[in-house]
Amino acid sequence: MINMIDKDKAFVWHPFTPQHENIPENIFIDRAEGIYLHTSDGRKIIDAISSWWVNIHGHANPRIAKTLGEQANKLEHVIFAGFTHQPAIELAEKLLSILPTNIKKVFYSDNGSTANEVAIKMAMQYWHNQGIKKKKIIALEGAYHGDTFGAMAVGDRSIFTQPFTDYLFEVSFIDFPSKEKQAHVITQFESLLQTGEVGIFIFEPLIQGAAGMRMYDPETLDILLKLAKQHNVICIADEVFTGFYRTGKFLASNYLSQQPDIIALSKGITGGTMPLGVTVCTRKIYDAYLSPEITKAFLHGHSYTANPLACAVANTSFEMLMEEKCQSQISKIAASHLSFIHEIKGHPAILNIRSLGTVLAIEIRSTQKSDYTNTLREKIYSYFLNKDILLRPLGNVIYLVPPYITTEAELRKIYNSISEFLNLV
Ligand SMILES: Cc1ncc(COP(=O)(O)O)c(C=O)c1O
Repeated sequence: MINMIDKDKAFVWHPFTPQHENIPENIFIDRAEGIYLHTSDGRKIIDAISSWWVNIHGHANPRIAKTLGEQANKLEHVIFAGFTHQPAIELAEKLLSILPTNIKKVFYSDNGSTANEVAIKMAMQYWHNQGIKKKKIIALEGAYHGDTFGAMAVGDRSIFTQPFTDYLFEVSFIDFPSKEKQAHVITQFESLLQTGEVGIFIFEPLIQGAAGMRMYDPETLDILLKLAKQHNVICIADEVFTGFYRTGKFLASNYLSQQPDIIALSKGITGGTMPLGVTVCTRKIYDAYLSPEITKAFLHGHSYTANPLACAVANTSFEMLMEEKCQSQISKIAASHLSFIHEIKGHPAILNIRSLGTVLAIEIRSTQKSDYTNTLREKIYSYFLNKDILLRPLGNVIYLVPPYITTEAELRKIYNSISEFLNLV
């Protein structure tokens, strides 16, 4: 009889995975609970990366599951044009209560890429509706905003975008704004702004996730945002990864004094249970769409826009996130990361170690380039998986993005394994 793994191999095409005859078997997950993924053959794997950075309260959370069940029995889905429902209204109200005060409207979609796609289109049409030609877009070197076409276009050109380069619209990339490059990046940015043609600036605030958890200072970003605003440029913060307290504050933008005009959110929004994206904007952006003319309307939507199941679990996840228990866990994880950094800093195998909030990144010294293609990736991945810890390094960068329920003892187990690994490389 064909088993599940054989069927998986025969029928299913998995993402980000080279397809060939000797493709390694996927690990079959039977169920999950808390931070643990349970395999059919009895293994219990720590999900130290929150399953692609989405799972914030742990897996199969009973409160979230209860909400999901209740909502499924009441209203599983309804078209969101011309109709509305309580979970979506409630979630918009909750988000607006904590987002920067200039943010006034919530637009729903269904994942991180589409949240950015909406953000980019919303900003482009903001200019179009007013008949203003400001067609240049600025993004950061190393940026990753998702895999749909608009999101790819504003992302750095890399192995992810290579086959599609000819189809992507033009974007000006400024260098990654590290401390050392601050003055240079500001000059680069200003000279682009001075053309008067720049309409959009999009960035991942403070951490570039997919680029290897590259971190930069709020001071530099504040300078860039201030300049952008002086030149009447719409600023889009992609908080898909950094939102929902991943960096220790609700948004990475909360570390800034200049606020974006549009923010894209997803990942942690439903606690990792349902796909959902939101794009939020200021009154100024929304006002450019105020017109009875259909040509001025934002003609964008998805079949599952504002899915009630997703919005309902997002509401429960939000409530849990705001509770003292969760907030203190977030602080504890951030503090643990800092003391671990203190403990292993200076280890000869470490090229760089950094953290912000619940994110910890360790760049391993290597003779190869520090990027996604670094082959240390395979060694790191299998080493930790053999120890029943799921860490999915970005090239030579080991990172931890744990669910917020992760205990000190569980973190310690992961840290100890990392220390052992460092002594082997
Ligand atoms: C900053 C950022 N933006 C957008 C995305 C794309 O989100 P999704 O995978 O839900 O399309 C990601 C995913 O990793 C991300 O890190």
